[in-house]
Amino acid sequence: MKNIVILISGGGSNMAAIVRAAEHERWAERFGARIAAVVSNKPDAGGLAIAGAHGIDTAVVPHKDFATREVFDEALARVVDAHSPALVVLAGFMRILTPGFVGRYAGRLVNIHPSLLPAFPGLHTHQRAIEAGCKVAGVTVHQVTTELDHGPILAQAVVPVLPDDTAATLAGRVLAQEHLLYPRAIAGWLADTLSHIR
Ligand code: GAR
Repeated sequence: MKNIVILISGGGSNMAAIVRAAEHERWAERFGARIAAVVSNKPDAGGLAIAGAHGIDTAVVPHKDFATREVFDEALARVVDAHSPALVVLAGFMRILTPGFVGRYAGRLVNIHPSLLPAFPGLHTHQRAIEAGCKVAGVTVHQVTTELDHGPILAQAVVPVLPDDTAATLAGRVLAQEHLLYPRAIAGWLADTLSHIR
């Protein structure tokens, strides 16, 4: 069985969408893959309870307990590696990762970012899209490289920016697409990649 480890920092709605897709689309039978663990850098992340309710192992590695990014990432990698992951999925994981961590999982580390990359890497993507006068916005699933919110694009979805949008209304429209796009992109990755190494 190929293990997927999902990293979160908050509500975990993307993680929940992936977990639901894995169950409903029978990823274990179709791809020989399962969600092995959900790991948070925040003890109060709402997504931990959702994962637990689905019988998935959870763990917390609180970044505040570590003096540097490097030692935090080493501790995080130890927890992740305990599950021998074929794929590590960043789903609202709001920490910048060190080159050491990114390199360790090269080719099997993916992220979702709420903009049409390469536009608007970083934070406050929806407000920035509105202020730039964008007529469309969206979401990107990409492989993670050492440059923040860059890396080969695996999938994108586009939504309109409406005249009376606020950052919150646009975020809601984008998030609905995230929940469709991320499971679909991961299923595509599993179909392409694991078929060669199973
Ligand atoms: C999502 O909108 C995701 O795209 C974004 O955080 C939110 C997490 O929501 N990620 C980033 O901004 C990463 N740079 P969730 O915890 O409900 O999935």
